[in-house]
Amino acid sequence: MAPIDPHSFTDSTHPLATHVSLTLYVDFSTSTIHGSALISLPNPHSGALSLDTRSLTIHSIRDPISLSSIPYSISPPDPIKGCHVTVSLSNHTSFLVLYSTSPSSSALQWLLPWQTFNKKYPFVYTQCQAIHARSVFPCQDTPAARVRYSCRINIPRQLSAVMSARHVERRAPLSQEAAALVCDSSLWCSEERVVEEFEMEQPVPPYLFAFAVGELGFREVGPRTRVYAEAVPGLLDDAAREFAGTEDMIRQGEQLFGPYEWERFDLLVLPPSFPYGGMENPRMVFLTPTVIKGDASGAQVVAHELAHSWTGNLITNKTNDHFWLNEGFTTYAERRIVEAVQGEDRATLNIGIGWKGLNEEMERFQDKMEFTKLKTNQEGVDPDDVYSQVPYEKGFQFLWRIERQIGRPAFDEFLKKYIATFKFQSIDTQTFLDFLKANIPGIEKDIDLELWTEGTGIPPDAYEPVSNIYTNIVSLANEFKLGRMPREDEVADWQGQEWELYLENLPKSVETSQVLALDERYRLSESKDYEVKVAFLQMAISSKCRDKYGEVEKTLKEVGRMKYLRPLYTALVQGTGKEEEKILAERVFAEACDFYHPIAKGVVASIFAKHL
Ligand code: BES
Ligand code: ZN
Repeated sequence: MAPIDPHSFTDSTHPLATHVSLTLYVDFSTSTIHGSALISLPNPHSGALSLDTRSLTIHSIRDPISLSSIPYSISPPDPIKGCHVTVSLSNHTSFLVLYSTSPSSSALQWLLPWQTFNKKYPFVYTQCQAIHARSVFPCQDTPAARVRYSCRINIPRQLSAVMSARHVERRAPLSQEAAALVCDSSLWCSEERVVEEFEMEQPVPPYLFAFAVGELGFREVGPRTRVYAEAVPGLLDDAAREFAGTEDMIRQGEQLFGPYEWERFDLLVLPPSFPYGGMENPRMVFLTPTVIKGDASGAQVVAHELAHSWTGNLITNKTNDHFWLNEGFTTYAERRIVEAVQGEDRATLNIGIGWKGLNEEMERFQDKMEFTKLKTNQEGVDPDDVYSQVPYEKGFQFLWRIERQIGRPAFDEFLKKYIATFKFQSIDTQTFLDFLKANIPGIEKDIDLELWTEGTGIPPDAYEPVSNIYTNIVSLANEFKLGRMPREDEVADWQGQEWELYLENLPKSVETSQVLALDERYRLSESKDYEVKVAFLQMAISSKCRDKYGEVEKTLKEVGRMKYLRPLYTALVQGTGKEEEKILAERVFAEACDFYHPIAKGVVASIFAKHL
């Protein structure tokens, strides 16, 4: 008996489920889902089987044929892992769990009509990575356990559902379906409801389970791509324009990494409270609306989530300790796609922004050097609390280092072979290293593989990118320290990413007058590009530039993406002599937190716990 993942109760001696069939009744009036999960095993099993749940009420566990009860027990909740459900099976190949979610289920955000674009209908969506799938359905919530699933979801007739799975049909509810549920058949079959059915035929880790329900519309943007969003014509048109180049990127991806295995590549633009930039849910990537701004950066987020179709979704990290296998490879793959479609300069700029970000994480983790490693030990640690640029950018640097060593053609060939070899598997760092050494004999003599994967900090053979634009921006930022602001002609062709790199390279705090002068000239605090706006506001807070606090408050109340919440709240509460800022932070959080996704709420709460 041993757990196979520090974040799951899944046990090494138990079989892993092969299929889950979900029946879900979405009740907006109570922010609850009443559901059943029919969990299938590869062989008949007798004895204990462990499942993960969080904030779920289990009503009963039954034999799917006789409907007789199967005994089970539930542990008190662990603060990180949730509850350990132990089911006592007797020669079962499948069993049915009847359950309900709770309004506090961490994967689910329920939006009231006034919190949506259209203001007419409610909206609900999931975010299951890293360990939140267990708050939507009972499961072996470890990426080591890949499952196929089907889902029928009962929703109000005016709404529609999308999922990270193939859409099968939209139809009237059937009364016999309610039998598998805790809800009454009159509710299930009401005139006011429809059922949408989905099927995921490829085995995926539970964190890739996803759905959204709302008043959705879509536009066709390519042969295998639609963009979905709330049915607001302006929003749909802007999104369609922003993502018009998607098919080009899919083709580039296929050329670099092999066939696209998921048939469709649809995009869903979520309400502004979506806690990430993007989430690589298979067949249906989820995106923040803040990426729609009419320049190259929206495509960058799509390139990233698309790249996960190979690295992350085909080859998956076995546990979060090996998260860099997902994000480091994907960051490398993203930049190769960006280089192919937007050119080398843009890719180099992204590498530069990442390099700066990586160096900053070293300061953040000064007292927790464990999380500057690629392979981490996350026993007793909440993955949302240690989410950082390290797996992305140090992972990228490691792969880039290997590319420099063996040359691009050889590395491209290696990557294709790696993907073809391990597709639809969940692997760990050692498996990657063994494969690397077997395929690039002698590589361990040229690169200190152990230092890269097990060591803390940034290895000496990591590399700051060089290009004219990059070097020029960094030196302009250095001149700001001496009091010189860039001239209009020097920034004339800057887009968001150039400003982002410039701001990242300025000192953390400067004279208030300098902040004001910079904003006076370039209006950065009003930028429509949140990357720019937030980088600027972060400096404004650290420089105690009170004039800009109104803009800070507004920003914290209109977007829920954690990439923006984290630095702004941290800047407000970190350090001494910050009484006014701390009071502001607490008031804004109290007023805004109903609008944040539960995961974002948790992250802000843990920033407060650390600094207040
Ligand atoms: N898979 C991640 C998002 C994620 C990571 C969710 C960990 C939950 C836990 C996604 O692919 C991602 O990296 N998104 C980035 C996009 C960026 C790197 C272009 C984001 O949200 O900022
Ligand atoms: Zn990613």
